[in-house]
Amino acid sequence: MIVVFGATGTIGTPLITALLAKGIDLRAVTSNTSRVAALEAQDCEAVVADFEDPAALARACKGAQKAFLVTPAHLDMRRWKANVIRAAADAGVHHMAMSTGLGASPKARLTFGIWHSDSQELLKESGMGWTLIQPTYFMQNLLWQADSIAAENTYLDDLGGSVSWVDARDIADVSAEALTGEGHLGKTYGLTGKEALSGGDIAALLQQILGRDITCRAVAPAETRAKMVLSGISDEVADAMTELAGLAPKGHLSGTTTTVQEVLGRPARRFADFIAENAAEFSG
Ligand SMILES: NC(=O)c1ccc[n+]([C@@H]2O[C@H](COP(=O)([O-])OP(=O)(O)OC[C@H]3O[C@@H](n4cnc5c(N)ncnc54)[C@H](OP(=O)(O)O)[C@@H]3O)[C@@H](O)[C@H]2O)c1
Repeated sequence: MIVVFGATGTIGTPLITALLAKGIDLRAVTSNTSRVAALEAQDCEAVVADFEDPAALARACKGAQKAFLVTPAHLDMRRWKANVIRAAADAGVHHMAMSTGLGASPKARLTFGIWHSDSQELLKESGMGWTLIQPTYFMQNLLWQADSIAAENTYLDDLGGSVSWVDARDIADVSAEALTGEGHLGKTYGLTGKEALSGGDIAALLQQILGRDITCRAVAPAETRAKMVLSGISDEVADAMTELAGLAPKGHLSGTTTTVQEVLGRPARRFADFIAENAAEFSG
């Protein structure tokens, strides 16, 4: 049985779908009791456990052989991951796939790279087998501005450089394969899409696919940071996100990997297809 932490999130939702499609016996974990019924309706076991609650995490891990772990980007994410890693190791889980971020390693100098690396090192030292899933920026982030694209026909470019966006469904599919296929123990999978796209490229794709004029407006890092803090993100996490975004204008987020193709035997999903599949969201 595989226990999935972060099961209702951007990666977790398609991961549950992918694992169920493989016929895997699984347990989805949520901290929100109101989400249990929807998870159970998909034919998986659902349990409530908060990353802050070691006893509930222990119950969530009981009887599981494998685990998937992702947490939101949060000031407490290292402690949350440590709590889950400890609970899983104590419960006898023998393989955990954990999603962190591209470039996370002990050599990382950026805040997120360091935070993710600390969790990765903890997992490696836990005694469990491990697979590290390291995605770059998710295509799904575009949905955050679906309403303003629909209402104002404007794409807000808060990166200012090309990024090799990855579809969270590819992150999920690679994670599902890592936990159910052979040869993935001890592997680190850096995940990107096939192509790097600038803000202008994304606006052009939106225009072409939605069939109406879409303008790209550059947004200054300070404006983006202020919006994050207004939305409830802590100062520290907003700073870490701003720091990461600062790599884009330098071209450091435009590199691509071939990992999706290598692990899944099919190409990574394309941003154009993601926009087409979600066209209704961008059209109000
Ligand atoms: N977005 C990007 O472009 C990007 C790029 C690279 C790396 N990342 C990394 O990817 C991770 C985020 O992945 P994601 O977007 O899939 O995650 P997410 O959707 O933000 O969160 C995953 C789930 O965590 C659960 N959760 C929240 N607080 C909890 C708590 N206290 N206890 C237990 N569960 C809790 C929530 O489910 P419930 O409410 O149901 O409990 C949520 O659905 C972060 O580590 C981020 O640094 C993101």
